[in-house]
Amino acid sequence: MTRLLLRGFEIRKGYLDNAVQSRLIDALRPLLKSAPLFRPVTPSGKVMSVRMTSAGDLGWVMDKAGYRYQGQHPGGMNWPKIPELVLAIWQDLVSPERAPDCCLINYYGKDAKMGLHQDKDEADFSWPVLSVSLGDDALFRIGNTTRGGKTESIWLNSGDVVIMGGPARLTYHGVDRIRPGSSRLLPKGGRINLTMRVAT
Ligand code: SIN
Ligand code: MN
Repeated sequence: MTRLLLRGFEIRKGYLDNAVQSRLIDALRPLLKSAPLFRPVTPSGKVMSVRMTSAGDLGWVMDKAGYRYQGQHPGGMNWPKIPELVLAIWQDLVSPERAPDCCLINYYGKDAKMGLHQDKDEADFSWPVLSVSLGDDALFRIGNTTRGGKTESIWLNSGDVVIMGGPARLTYHGVDRIRPGSSRLLPKGGRINLTMRVAT
């Protein structure tokens, strides 16, 4: 396992072995049944290419009214619990004392991408955002703490974990594209990204 620092983001390459990655996918399967992925629409009316859902006390949603954390899935049901195996990653890399309120689950099909953005809807930026990559490789772009300027990119592979915290907590980041077919973890291909956050 190698540990890289890129623009203040700590990248743990190969943090999760293949067996744990498969167990994580098994743990996510029932959760995706009870809180199905939905395709968010931005406040300006743009349909996102990434599909998303959440687990935890709060889920992150985006719609015409804006971006926010809320207690229910857009379908009206409560979000499922964050699986223990997912929480274990947070406990190991962030804190055993406080659990994340939200685990956002993003699914990238072959043409999906995510523009540069900051994670800034949380109340307390002293907690990092912990991001887990599963499935196909993703070209992850890291910018600056303000919009614009030079950026650097790195391929994230299945099993990599990124810790976005400290002075880099509000650094812009996004995913330019995935490399379809680069992983066999997900039977139908694509990429799942989990981001755990303390929201309140
Ligand atoms: C995100 O910033 O919400 C997702 C990042 C990723 O997919 O790696
Ligand atoms: Mn983000």
